Amino acid sequence: MNLVVTGAQWGDEGKGKIVDYLAKDAQIIVRFSGGANAGHTIVIGDEQYALHLIPSGILYPDKFVILGAGMVIDPVALFKELDMLKERGIDTTGRVFISDRAHIVLPRYIQIDKERDAARKTPIGTTGRGIGITYSMKCDRDGIRIADLGWKEKMDELEDEDRAFLAPFVQRLSEMSIDQAYFLMHHRNSQILFEGAQGTLLDLDLGTYPYVSSGMSSAAGAAIGGCIGPRRLDKVLGVFKAYSTRVGNGPFPSEFEEVVSTGSTTATEVEPVETSSEDALCKYIRETGREYGVTTGRPRRCGYLDLVALRYACLTNSIDSLVMTHLDVYDTLDKIKACIAYRITGEDGKEHIIEEFPASIAALNAAKPVLRSFAGWKQNLSGCLTYDEFPTAAMEYIEFIERFCETPIDIVSVGYDRKETIIRKNPWGK
Ligand code: IMP
Ligand code: MG
Repeated sequence: MNLVVTGAQWGDEGKGKIVDYLAKDAQIIVRFSGGANAGHTIVIGDEQYALHLIPSGILYPDKFVILGAGMVIDPVALFKELDMLKERGIDTTGRVFISDRAHIVLPRYIQIDKERDAARKTPIGTTGRGIGITYSMKCDRDGIRIADLGWKEKMDELEDEDRAFLAPFVQRLSEMSIDQAYFLMHHRNSQILFEGAQGTLLDLDLGTYPYVSSGMSSAAGAAIGGCIGPRRLDKVLGVFKAYSTRVGNGPFPSEFEEVVSTGSTTATEVEPVETSSEDALCKYIRETGREYGVTTGRPRRCGYLDLVALRYACLTNSIDSLVMTHLDVYDTLDKIKACIAYRITGEDGKEHIIEEFPASIAALNAAKPVLRSFAGWKQNLSGCLTYDEFPTAAMEYIEFIERFCETPIDIVSVGYDRKETIIRKNPWGK
């Protein structure tokens, strides 16, 4: 069986934890998009691991992991990560493979990425890992793939600086290189987990362009970046947090108002007291949910769960079932709110209620969330071992989302540890 795990928001949904959990029943874990811009956190007992390039399944001693064709590989970051794992007692020998179609990130690209983003009138706020430039070079047909390391004419064409950079890595990269399509064909009777990075709203085509990353982070990317036909993907899981976060710039309709109001606001619908409570909520969630970037350390922007966006992610990824994470962050709240539509005031001054996620950045920037309130459960969810033990209020929040998105929530995560995962339906089952 082939299972895809994608992010249903703006990344950082907790995919790393879920992939780690599901990897127990997989033999091969494939990452299909992005590069060292990702940051996947996995907690096992007292140990915490932050992975950027290597699929999360690596922490199990017997799994094969593949860095897929849709990825962009920074050799420095890759070998640093492999060294880190070795130092921490994880033997990766003979288990890490790279698609020979994956592209290579050069130091030059990293420099250009930083300079170009800083020079933008409104920077995207990239992670500065050279991701967008590497994908641009790929689209321009000037990229360098792992397979090209053995192509003399291509190597001779490179700038001296690039050739000199690559030279010490050629042998080690070539040793890990595979033809991914045939490798997966030979392992077709294995359980394969396709691990997404970033999220639907950061997908180059489906996301809030141009405030996106440059890879195909949605489920369709698993087929192309995984070197497998789309009909061989059996099931798609979409991971989302009980609230929303976003790193970097770009529209975020349900974002909390973080600035404490002076009371002189002219907006009629935002009362000062409401603004200040959103500010408090934002700080509370950021600290409780540890909402700081794993790759860049930046504080993440936080907001209400955006069900308009989540339903769009379900639609565009053909999500079979949802995985909700970080629900425990809401344990202490009296009241919980989620965005169920956008209120947009048009040029004509008229207000429109929109329930479909628009492509227009102007519309998304103008959108104000229509919020629905839910009762809090005021109980520590990490004490629950099964869904039946959940308080009614938590079930009501979950079941509303299921109805709204017309998609079941089969897994709920209530803490960082592998143990703190409630399975309502095992995704590996038929
Ligand atoms: P890039 O991928 O470095 O080009 O960054 C483009 C945008 O995607 C920026 O807003 C980043 O903050 C965001 N981004 C990239 N990777 C991740 C991720 O793994 N989690 C969350 N945001 C990300
Ligand atoms: Mg992350």
